[in-house]
Amino acid sequence: RQHQARGLGHAVWCARRLIGPDESFAVMLPDDVIAAETSCLKQMVDAHAKTGGCMVAAMEVPREKASAYGILDVSEDMGSLVQARGMVEKPKVGEAPSNLAVIGRYILTPDVLHNLEKTEEGSGGEIQLTDAIAQEITEGRNVFGYRFQGERFDCGSKAGFLQATVAFALERPELREELSLF
Ligand code: G1P
Repeated sequence: RQHQARGLGHAVWCARRLIGPDESFAVMLPDDVIAAETSCLKQMVDAHAKTGGCMVAAMEVPREKASAYGILDVSEDMGSLVQARGMVEKPKVGEAPSNLAVIGRYILTPDVLHNLEKTEEGSGGEIQLTDAIAQEITEGRNVFGYRFQGERFDCGSKAGFLQATVAFALERPELREELSLF
């Protein structure tokens, strides 16, 4: 439990005792709801079995929205997989290294927890998970972005929450007919 709102990185750090010293672990941000035939995290677990290192879900966003996300600086684009040479949390408008955004699914190594010990307040005055992952790249370890198959809803916004509600309802036979009347 995170007793103070000090940022996503701090929240993950609060869970450090639940994670074994040699175990990779997953982080899921529940305000990113993803509709997919194979769950986004399962897609990533399968890809991660071949790559190791750290992996973040990734999705192209409109350039003008890049400053709402963690953004990947890509060194090699292999299609569904990209290798990152940097990551920046909520870059200023016009300063984003790409429009490939981090979405709330992560597979991380315990090294990231160690990095979090030393991570200083970053964007928004919060301890940022993005900064602790970027530290991995600085130390010469691999960080990958994974372009998942599926549709992502930003349930941190009212419109995104409503879109998700409607999209999931339309998938349900007992609700589809009544909803389609609108
Ligand atoms: C968090 C992360 C950010 C990521 C985003 C995805 O930001 O810090 O890197 O791109 O989730 O939804 P938040 O939306 O909590 O500000």
